[in-house]
Amino acid sequence: TFPDFKDRYGRKVTYLRVSITERCNFRCVYCMPAEGIGQIASKEYLSYDEIAELVEIFAAQGVTSVRITGGEPLVRADVPDLVAKLRAIDGIERIAMTTNGFLLDRYAQALKDAGLDSLNISLDTLDPERFKRITRVGDLDRVLQGIDAAQKAGFKSVKLNAVIVAGFNEDEMLDLVRFATERAMIMRFIEFMPIGDTVWANDLIGSDGAPQLPPGAGRSNLGYCVPAKTMRAEIAKHYRLEVDPKRYGTGPARYWRLHGPDTPPEGQAFGIIAAVTECFCDLCNRVRLTASGGLRACLADDDEINLRAPLRTHSDPVLRRAEIEERVHEALFGKKERHAFDIEGGSVTTKNMTSIGG
Ligand code: GTP
Ligand code: 5AD
Ligand code: SF4
Repeated sequence: TFPDFKDRYGRKVTYLRVSITERCNFRCVYCMPAEGIGQIASKEYLSYDEIAELVEIFAAQGVTSVRITGGEPLVRADVPDLVAKLRAIDGIERIAMTTNGFLLDRYAQALKDAGLDSLNISLDTLDPERFKRITRVGDLDRVLQGIDAAQKAGFKSVKLNAVIVAGFNEDEMLDLVRFATERAMIMRFIEFMPIGDTVWANDLIGSDGAPQLPPGAGRSNLGYCVPAKTMRAEIAKHYRLEVDPKRYGTGPARYWRLHGPDTPPEGQAFGIIAAVTECFCDLCNRVRLTASGGLRACLADDDEINLRAPLRTHSDPVLRRAEIEERVHEALFGKKERHAFDIEGGSVTTKNMTSIGG
């Protein structure tokens, strides 16, 4: 009933995001509470062999691209081993990772050698004090070293992600584009999404006028979100913008080119992920696997289909595979048409970003 692995709205799924841990060495205010998170018991974590078995099943349905996420994926031991296992799966053409960069200094080369194709690294600010405030515990210098390490290891495709928070870092967009350009990387700005209890972002509020939300308001209040249109207007004060039709990944970002007197170099591209105000759900090509083996058809929908149970209960590989395939199709069938971020009072997730993997 699912030729080409399509959902009810005709969207073909070719991309799987695999979260391998919900833990992180940072505590970004838009992602998790100050005390961190540890809901998954260790026996519930899928092993790398279990993940590879699932990815093989997805690949047989038409998934060609896998992104490893967290939490912070590199806090889990031996991630290059997972990359190598995924690399060996027929049909998987591209393996990418999203990381906060803190451990890249140590792992970039091993990841490259294991066959990782590309990296997206989070970098919200170039100011060490702001970096501390937004990540609560992060260390900007280490992340900058990690970015250098990615370049030295020979990654051709590195993108930098900044979540833009109203009143906090909008003023750094051009500096961030310049920073990325100097390293032949692509900068991308992300609209703040109301995933989980984003009220923690109140920790960012200083005297710089960002909107302060009341406790519990984070689920539906979009006060921290800077609309893509506003981001473009800010940049357009200094440069002429032109749509760049090129895709620099397989995700929902849209790209633009800068034209101006001191653009280094002329025509430099950057991306915007306008998840809230320029809904891209009609083009969605992805589903998500959580670290405990839950299959989420949509980032913004808490419904999860348990793939861990069939993976562990059937000792007969044929039965096991048949039941997993059935559940995967059930999840795909339930995939929502779109999120409700921009609809006042629209329900969003109870799970936090760190438990979903972005
Ligand atoms: P590429 O463009 O292929 O490099 O990947 P990507 O942009 O999909 O991955 P990344 O992990 O760098 O995600 C960047 C931002 O986009 C994060 O804030 C994600 O939460 C967000 N994002 C990725 N996929 C989706 C999606 O399907 N829906 C929504 N709403 N946001 C998404
Ligand atoms: N809104 C938008 N992006 C977010 N990320 C984490 N939390 C949020 C949020 N509430 C981003 C991270 C990382 C990616 C995986 O998701 O900064 O770049
Ligand atoms: Fe960690 Fe990424 Fe969440 Fe920040 S956004 S706390 S780096 S998982």
